[in-house]
Amino acid sequence: MQKTKAFWKDRIAYQIYPRSFQDTQGLNGVSGDGIGDIPGIISRLDELKDLGIGIIWLSPVYKSPDADNGYDISDYFSIDPKYGTMADMEALFAEAEKRDIKIIMDLVINHTSDEHEWFQKSRDPQSPYRDFYIWRPGKTGPDGKKLPPNNWTGFFMGEVWEFDEKSREYYLHLFDKKQPDLNYKNPRVVEEIKNILRFWLDKGAAGFRCDVINIIYKTSLEDGKKNTAVCGIEHYKSQEGNHAVLRELRRDVLDKYLCFTVGETVMVGFDEAKLLCDENRRELDMLFYFEHLEIDRRIERFIPKKFRASKLLEVLSKWQRLEWNALYLENHDQSRIVSHFGPEKNPAKNLSSGGRPSKYWQRSAKMLAALELTLRGTPFIFQGQEIGMTNFDYKSLDEVNDVESHSLNKLMKKLHVPGFLRWKWIKASSRDNARTPMQWDESENAGFSRSKPWLAVNSNHRYINYALQKNDPDSVLSFYKKMIALRQKNECLKHGDFIPVFADTRLMVYQRRLGNEIFSMALNFSSRKAKIPKKAALLLSGVPVISNTDRQFIGKALLPWEVMVLRIL
Ligand code: NOJ
Repeated sequence: MQKTKAFWKDRIAYQIYPRSFQDTQGLNGVSGDGIGDIPGIISRLDELKDLGIGIIWLSPVYKSPDADNGYDISDYFSIDPKYGTMADMEALFAEAEKRDIKIIMDLVINHTSDEHEWFQKSRDPQSPYRDFYIWRPGKTGPDGKKLPPNNWTGFFMGEVWEFDEKSREYYLHLFDKKQPDLNYKNPRVVEEIKNILRFWLDKGAAGFRCDVINIIYKTSLEDGKKNTAVCGIEHYKSQEGNHAVLRELRRDVLDKYLCFTVGETVMVGFDEAKLLCDENRRELDMLFYFEHLEIDRRIERFIPKKFRASKLLEVLSKWQRLEWNALYLENHDQSRIVSHFGPEKNPAKNLSSGGRPSKYWQRSAKMLAALELTLRGTPFIFQGQEIGMTNFDYKSLDEVNDVESHSLNKLMKKLHVPGFLRWKWIKASSRDNARTPMQWDESENAGFSRSKPWLAVNSNHRYINYALQKNDPDSVLSFYKKMIALRQKNECLKHGDFIPVFADTRLMVYQRRLGNEIFSMALNFSSRKAKIPKKAALLLSGVPVISNTDRQFIGKALLPWEVMVLRIL
């Protein structure tokens, strides 16, 4: 059983995608390299403290050839020089601790980079490392042609088997071919992972965000059922062996430290999530699920469809029944929330006005802040979300870096999807939407770097940036600060039960209750007024404690993108 206080339930977390956060290597007069770094993060800790952040989730800073921007690790024990040194990392732990901010590391252990020493050794069939990965000879087709060992398809929409000339066999990679999957049937692999955990916990990490952690154990390599988006998944999603590995890591390492884990769990269902987070089973403390962000998408997140607030409430109500949630609306793989559930669907349209966002940008960003910060669980804010950053405004695929967008484009081209549609879908789903550099100020590179950034800044940084919002009491940033302070003062908003009340296509009403304390929330997800039905109005007869309009009293309807948080007396 849990021996330690669950500190993660009382703090607000913030995800840093280091590549795009702050490049300071140029601050001493030298030019930066256009890639964010650890000294950059240190230089912004005061801003995070000021926002009310108590935990940082740091996306990978380990040595990596960057086939997938750091999610392909070639050495788990060193910092990639583009981000700084181990001394910088130690300074980050120390500086964060001074401000009472904990740091969790990104644990990417389903796969390594193909440039990792283990994989390089494993290419030799006689090596003791051979069994660290999943190697198979493949099949021979009727015409004598070599065929891969099974029919699985991968998460980046391509092949999952790569033939290695040196070994004369195929290896499995559920993601890019430069990300070979580890073999969790081999106990030596699990022992190596324990060493990685211990290393970072000893350095001062307060836990881990665990990348695709419910697919690490491959029970069998038989052919998968056809017609599934990721063919073969029934052979490796949340297998008994997977649960067992998580329990072993907990028992042998994590339980010896004051730390927590949040799993990123692919295509996870509710019952599966309940098992993974069951306090008595001791596997994960909480997890990121995806269903709420897929309510207006087909084929995971790739093709947009109509948004309905009623669907969102239905999905949230289900997941709020988990003992504890990891709450998020954005991360480095998702669209920006003002461009997803909000009105900033196509920022490129605003280019003619120099990037000026549309009429309801600010109000909708605040409404979405209130949504995330009034649910039960630990909120994770993604860098830039607190200032209402939008999707990118690029004009063509040439400006996109994301390996997944390029694979998607290739696949759609093969299926003869016309170019304009491919670009429309990529614009809505590309992970680069979240990865454009953080908009610190209105200068040429948005205060992110003195050099050309690795990915182009959004031209709306002249209107949407930290410096503009810092001292403006009406800004999105100030609203986030107010919402965080409100949540931190009220146990009911952190720990209270979630009670769904009413929703239609654009209006959503719910409550949080703890003992005699009740908060009611009403949100309008549209650019039109939303009428409040009598049934819901009764539950809204409290005192507004916070809203994103100047209105003091809730009437019979909500204004476009309005949110009201009321305390019921
Ligand atoms: C999930 C990560 O969030 C994503 O960025 C990465 O591409 C895949 N896992 C593979 O590591």
